[in-house]
Order: sequence, then structure tokens, then C-alpha cells
Amino acid sequence: MIKTKTKNLKFIDFCSGIGAGRLGLENNGLSCIGFSEIDNQAEITYRKFFGEEEKNYGDLMKIDTKKLPDFDMMIAGFPCQSFSVIGQRKGMQDKRGQIIYGLIKIMLDKNLKYFILENVKGLTNHDNGNTFKVILKELDKAGYKVFHKVLNSIDYGVPQMRERIYFIGIRKDLVPENFVYLFPERQNRVSVKDFLIDTKELEFDDKKESYETFLRYMKNKYNHGRYDLDDFLTKDYLVIDTRQSDLRLYDNKVPTLRVGRHGILYVKNGKFRKLSGYESLLLQGFPKQLAKKVDGVIEEIHLLKQAGNAMTVNTIGAITRELFKTLEQHEN
Ligand SMILES: C[S@@+](CC[C@H](N)C(=O)[O-])C[C@H]1O[C@@H](n2cnc3c(N)ncnc32)[C@H](O)[C@@H]1O
Repeated sequence: MIKTKTKNLKFIDFCSGIGAGRLGLENNGLSCIGFSEIDNQAEITYRKFFGEEEKNYGDLMKIDTKKLPDFDMMIAGFPCQSFSVIGQRKGMQDKRGQIIYGLIKIMLDKNLKYFILENVKGLTNHDNGNTFKVILKELDKAGYKVFHKVLNSIDYGVPQMRERIYFIGIRKDLVPENFVYLFPERQNRVSVKDFLIDTKELEFDDKKESYETFLRYMKNKYNHGRYDLDDFLTKDYLVIDTRQSDLRLYDNKVPTLRVGRHGILYVKNGKFRKLSGYESLLLQGFPKQLAKKVDGVIEEIHLLKQAGNAMTVNTIGAITRELFKTLEQHEN
């Protein structure tokens, strides 16, 4: 762990969701001095994780930066609805797309040293790449050296395929002109068995009302005749994504957790099970002792959504570690 360089560094967790980014930074020794989130449900979960006394600065577009304490770093998984490949492609025209300008204003007003921003991969080619270009130009204009890359969470210690674009920003006066940040190397794959471990009664069978719907789904024009349910049940840890139309199968990995996609099943001990909120948190890198704090306390529907919205703790951890390692090397 790189704790010498990060020891006294403070950050604010913007668009915090449930604080996955925060954990990634804290795991590297940085201290969180507050968060900014407008979703009440996410805030409830955040407080279960980090405590009632945490300060929520609320809507980042309305923050009076003069009232913000000093801090060194910002982390923000800014809203992706307006950029997503599945969204309506309104991009920079959509008001939510303008959040990047709110973040830049805070960077400038606070003379911030570093930032980590995260978004969906679709941001890179939205509007033929123009949106992405504008964002890079604005961050450069704000005085930051910016490095960006699409990383997949499955390469950083969780068995979830999740491609996201990451931006690392360093204030230009802090590093030499030739400074280069290289994103962390891929790590060895891990086993899905260590993540699909919920012990609650999650069997999905004909005792459940929605099982009928599942059987009907298996007979729709996309899936009919293609699969044999009995065969599925012989394959422990087969992961089944019941997408809107066609079904997809995964071996030793889970597809991207998404808001509104709650239809991930898997096979265990010859039975179908539904992926739980607890397991979704583990698949985003939340440690078990933290995930247990909300398991059975926050409704499943919220946990699944919040995990689908979150960053992956491990990926942020790896990016941050690499950043401070590189900065430290430059100083020596
Ligand atoms: C894609 S999610 C990121 C979640 C977070 N990174 C995590 O790991 O859980 C975007 C979050 O930004 C929040 N958000 C949207 N607009 C905001 C604003 N103006 N101020 C603060 N938070 C906002 C949303 O409520 C949502 O939780």
C-alpha cells in the first residue's frame, strides 16, 4: 500500500452513490471529508456503511465552494444516463451531462490537486467522439494533465465484466511536462464461486411467482428450442443473464451489473438462484463485513440498483495505488 504519499491527503466523494470510490481511496490511506449525493436511498445505504455523522454537501451543482473545506482530491462517477450507449444520446445537451462543468468549477475554485472520474465506456464514442473530446479539452483548460483508459473490472480482482472509462487528473504544476501515468496492469482472474455465497433462501423454482414468467421467457421467439433447463441445472455456477429478449450464459463471470437489470440467475447445487443484493455488492468489491451491514436491512431492489450504479472498489484502489506510486517515483 502507498501510504506515505497519501497519508495526509483529503478527498470529497462526489456523485457518491454508495461510496465504492471512497473505499478504493480509503484503502490507499486517503481520508474522506464528505460526500455529495442527491439520491435519498443511496444516502441511506452510504450512511449505513460510513456513519450518520458524515457530511452530505448535496447537489454538487449548487454547492457554494467558499463553504467547502480544503481538500486535495475529488472522486466522481458522474451520472451516465446522458452519455450511455443505451441512453437517448442527447449527451452534452442534456442537463445531467453538464455535471462535468459543475465538477470542473469545484476543481478550479478549490485549486484541487488530483481527480479520478469514472463513466460508462459509451462516453468515448458518444456523438462521434465529440463529447469525449470536449470533456478532455475542458479538463486540460482547467489546468490538468489527464490520462484516460477503459478498464474492465474483471481484470482487477472481481469476476464481473464491467468496462468503464477512467480519467486521472493531476494539476499541471505538480508534475513535469513529460510525466506519464500508466494505468495498472491486469491481475489474475478470480473465481466466481467466492462471490456467489449468499446463504439466504434464494432458490428460484416453481414455488416462486415469477418462475412462470421465466418459463414463458424461455419459450419466446429468441430462446425457444435453444436451451434445456435440466441441462443448465447440471452446471454449477453457470451464470444466466435473462436480458429483455434473449438469454446469455456466462462461465466463471457475471455480466455488468446494471440499474434495472435484476434478472441474473445462477446455478448452485442443482438449483437456480437469483443474484442477491449482498452478492452484487461483493461483485463490486465491497468487503463482506460492510455488505453484511446492509444485507436484509436495505431492500433488495435498492441494493441491486445501487450496486449496479456503483464503481468497483478494487479498480479504483488499483488506479489510486498506481497514481501515488508513480508520483512517488517522480519525487525520488
Ligand atoms: C453512476 S452513479 C455513481 C455511483 C457511485 N460512483 C458509486 O460508486 O456508488 C451517479 C450518482 O450521481 C448522483 N448525482 C446525480 N446528480 C448529482 C448532483 N447534481 N449532485 C450530487 N450527486 C448527483 C446520482 O444520484 C447517482 O447516485
